[in-house]
Amino acid sequence: MAKEFVKIFDTTLRDGEQVPGCKLNTSQKLIIAKRLDKLGVDVIEAGFPVSSPGDFKSVVEISNIVENATVCGLTRAVKNDIEVAANALKTAKRPRIHTGIGTSDSHIEHKFKSSREKIIEIGSQAVKYAKTFVDDVEFYAEDAGRTDNEFLARVCEKMIESGATVLNIPDTTGYCLPYEYGEKIKYLVENVKNIHKATISCHCHNDLGLATANSIAGIINGARQIECTINGIGERAGNTSLEEVVMIMRQHPNLNLDTNINSKLLFDTSSLVSEGMGMPVQPNKAIVGANAFAHSSGIHQDGVIKNRETYEIINPLDVGVNESAIILTARSGRAALAYRAKKIGYDLSKNELDLIYPEFLKFADIKKEVSDEDIPHLIKKSL
Ligand code: KIV
Ligand code: ZN
Repeated sequence: MAKEFVKIFDTTLRDGEQVPGCKLNTSQKLIIAKRLDKLGVDVIEAGFPVSSPGDFKSVVEISNIVENATVCGLTRAVKNDIEVAANALKTAKRPRIHTGIGTSDSHIEHKFKSSREKIIEIGSQAVKYAKTFVDDVEFYAEDAGRTDNEFLARVCEKMIESGATVLNIPDTTGYCLPYEYGEKIKYLVENVKNIHKATISCHCHNDLGLATANSIAGIINGARQIECTINGIGERAGNTSLEEVVMIMRQHPNLNLDTNINSKLLFDTSSLVSEGMGMPVQPNKAIVGANAFAHSSGIHQDGVIKNRETYEIINPLDVGVNESAIILTARSGRAALAYRAKKIGYDLSKNELDLIYPEFLKFADIKKEVSDEDIPHLIKKSL
């Protein structure tokens, strides 16, 4: 059966850039936008044009240079926001306006001091107005994660009727459990009459560490777009991590879902964003962390040296990492020491290893990590 494609909507430059202290200037954003285009993302959310002159300029310049991806600008359900976004996106080959409003009772009562009916009307007017500028209009139902499903279905139906081509169902506060988020998407697929005319999009935040799991639950239940960021960056605990959802689809062929992403560029793209934002990637981060393909315990090292797949489910080359790393520590065994020595030109016999290994352990207990430079000294000392 042919695979179905899930669109990757990258919001590194909008939601991702909301990380405190990590603001990018326009030229940094252009470098990242070019890279995202090369990576194969389907949509680049370039910014929130009405929010500042700098953001407006970035969206204009990104619109000028992006070759393949759709370029998207965020707005509130406010006429002026939509006009400003439409202006910023004028030169984009494939422009998209992303407009919307809060739909949970909490947002309706406290943020808007409004009613469900009025919110539907404001959202619908915003979609219709955005549609006068561009064909491709995405509607977000902010705090959809805590919005009553029956009301959310009514909102979605009305927005599609008004012209929305994509319906974004954000778990804005990262509250949902994967089965709840999955059921929400399923409910919309089954209860919104005109749902076949639009794509459902997952936009999950990571407040409980569930953003990736929730997005995957969403696509299993019928969503066909995921909104995510490189390294999972974003406000508070961040957004869904692009590299994680892409590799989950690749590593689980029975999901029968794939993306247009060139996964071999993932590691470099992660480094580019991390350096540009001055935001280090945690070493144990899935897929792109420094330790994602590093093995330091003797049992694991022995297994990986015999056959990489014993302890690795992803070939590092597939995500742009040259090779798995065998780290020499006091937990390493003879196999790891022999492997690393061989890599720098020392083919040690069993007897030689027996002599060097006790010296190696004493040294490793003092120095946390034994380097390539240390190995010749240990050999000289022991033989
Ligand atoms: O998290 C959220 O609800 C958002 C919307 C503005 C799309 O980022
Ligand atoms: Zn968000």
